[in-house]
Amino acid sequence: MTNVVVIGSQWGDEGKGKIVDWLSERADIVVRFQGGHNAGHTLVIDGTSYKLSLLPSGVVRPGKMAVIGNGVVIDPHALCAEIDKLEKQGVTITPDNLRIADNATLILSLHRELDGIREDAAASTNGGVKIGTTRRGIGPAYEDKVGRRAIRVMDLADLETLSAKVERLLTHHNALRRGLGETEISHDAIMQELTSVADRVLPFRDTVWLMLDRERRAGSRILFEGAQGSLLDIDHGTYPFVTSSNTVAGQAAAGSGMGPGSLGYILGITKAYTTRVGEGPFPTELTDEIGQFLGERGREFGTVTGRKRRCGWFDAALVRQSVATNGITGIALTKLDVLDGLDELKICVGYTLDGEEIDHLPASQGQQARVVPRYITLEGWKESTVGARKWADLPAQAIKYVRQVEELIGAPVALLSTSPERDDTILVTDPFED
Ligand code: IMP
Repeated sequence: MTNVVVIGSQWGDEGKGKIVDWLSERADIVVRFQGGHNAGHTLVIDGTSYKLSLLPSGVVRPGKMAVIGNGVVIDPHALCAEIDKLEKQGVTITPDNLRIADNATLILSLHRELDGIREDAAASTNGGVKIGTTRRGIGPAYEDKVGRRAIRVMDLADLETLSAKVERLLTHHNALRRGLGETEISHDAIMQELTSVADRVLPFRDTVWLMLDRERRAGSRILFEGAQGSLLDIDHGTYPFVTSSNTVAGQAAAGSGMGPGSLGYILGITKAYTTRVGEGPFPTELTDEIGQFLGERGREFGTVTGRKRRCGWFDAALVRQSVATNGITGIALTKLDVLDGLDELKICVGYTLDGEEIDHLPASQGQQARVVPRYITLEGWKESTVGARKWADLPAQAIKYVRQVEELIGAPVALLSTSPERDDTILVTDPFED
């Protein structure tokens, strides 16, 4: 028995929700370790649909402990709104089933506002870099964390320290706002914002690293729920078109306070083709009718912002990179059924850059924009793979496609998901038992 880390191996939206839900039934504790309410997925349990952004998936399952680790940035208003919404649906959320790290960073309304101001300015400025963020304040909050001026959960319990910290935060933000031509924010306004949410947030706070250590020693099964995807990682992604946290599996340790030796099985959720929301390089993007087909068949619209996702062929070179940077043990391949009916399928195996063949995406922004994918072409299949629950249910060409993916990325398929339904899954390896 082991713990399991679930991460996305592409640009997010790989279908983590269904797999995390499936695994959370087998886990005792579900931990978020990075990102914030920029994530989003829908869980359907016994016919009821629950939308989660910030809370770990385990929260909707009775008897599970959900944990928000120190690596997460928490918008307290979004947190309260999500709790209220779930409670209206009959889910009980108390400190018995939700704990929040006392050393996690808070997102304030000034972060959300700054995120929007910057995106708007970048869009209208010649040479500005529009990232296409979710405008939730994620980036500005992480900047303050690294700048050592963030307000953290435990600060809400100590008004004297809080006041001095707000002062320090505003010295920075008001200078920035003056430069941007925005009105300054008063100390009172921030103090009021924070004290208005303190009573709701504080009951959930805990020394999470200590609690996880105790649970690990007691033999609890811990599931780490990653958000976004490895190619959006602040270090390993397509910088600067990335999110502001480390999304790779190693962050499960730093973002929760558990040692890397306890992480266990690293499950990389991998879509059978590629999608991306927001700006940035996407070598295998299809702007033709096949891209349109994938978007429509795959219902590729963002859960958080409703934006249309860009679609393209499977990029094995990028996923091979994710297998390495995450230490992926096995993958869960999702949405294979979206490829049903296509005459032929392409898989990117590497790139050509300025006339030279390379096998990985270079780190340079300019080079990333210039790479041309090198493809292999496979025959498609006409039969439906929707709902397949064993290999024998799959057409031979679909199996060939899956085997080719495994070979090219250098990792085995542990699970194959063939529809949004929980049970439409071919299980090769149970990550908790591996
Ligand atoms: P931010 O995380 O809001 O700062 O956005 C930075 C980039 O990450 C943008 O391209 C977003 O579209 C992308 N992003 C953030 N969260 C997600 C997600 O959950 N799925 C897919 N893309 C995301």
